Amino acid sequence: MQLIYDTLTGNTRRFTLKVADCTGLEAVALAEADPRGPYLLLTYTFGSGVLPDSTAAFLRRHSPWLRGVVSSGSFHWGENFGRAGDVIAGQYGVPFVARVNKSGSAADVQAVAAWLSRQEADAAD
Ligand SMILES: Cc1cc2nc3c(=O)[nH]c(=O)nc-3n(C[C@H](O)[C@H](O)[C@H](O)COP(=O)(O)O)c2cc1C
Repeated sequence: MQLIYDTLTGNTRRFTLKVADCTGLEAVALAEADPRGPYLLLTYTFGSGVLPDSTAAFLRRHSPWLRGVVSSGSFHWGENFGRAGDVIAGQYGVPFVARVNKSGSAADVQAVAAWLSRQEADAAD
């Protein structure tokens, strides 16, 4: 599984790199990614609960290998907190693995790493 991230101000990149450190998986910026296998998408929420245009365009081309989504946002946005993840999970029928505030907490990293480890275990069965 690859970790593919979109970021504007760096929070999602920072979170992705923490997950990569913890799991040993490769982190690739969305602009450089050309997935040929399963990947977890990590992105952020913008414009009152929508996904970035860059993420939407990427998914139009690369949704077949999408296996799950993590969404960064900010608590301040209330019901729109991390909503890009809800939109993507609903649209593409994949699990919403985690909704994280900014660059995420240690517990968020652990939760995502645990989900990734279950995927690897399932793939090995
Ligand atoms: C114009 C603007 C709109 C935003 N809208 C939302 C939102 O609707 N929901 C949310 O949870 N966060 C929202 N945010 C916060 C970002 O999603 C959050 O800071 C995120 O960590 C940014 O990720 P990045 O640093 O990887 O770009 C918004 C931020 C900006 C600047």
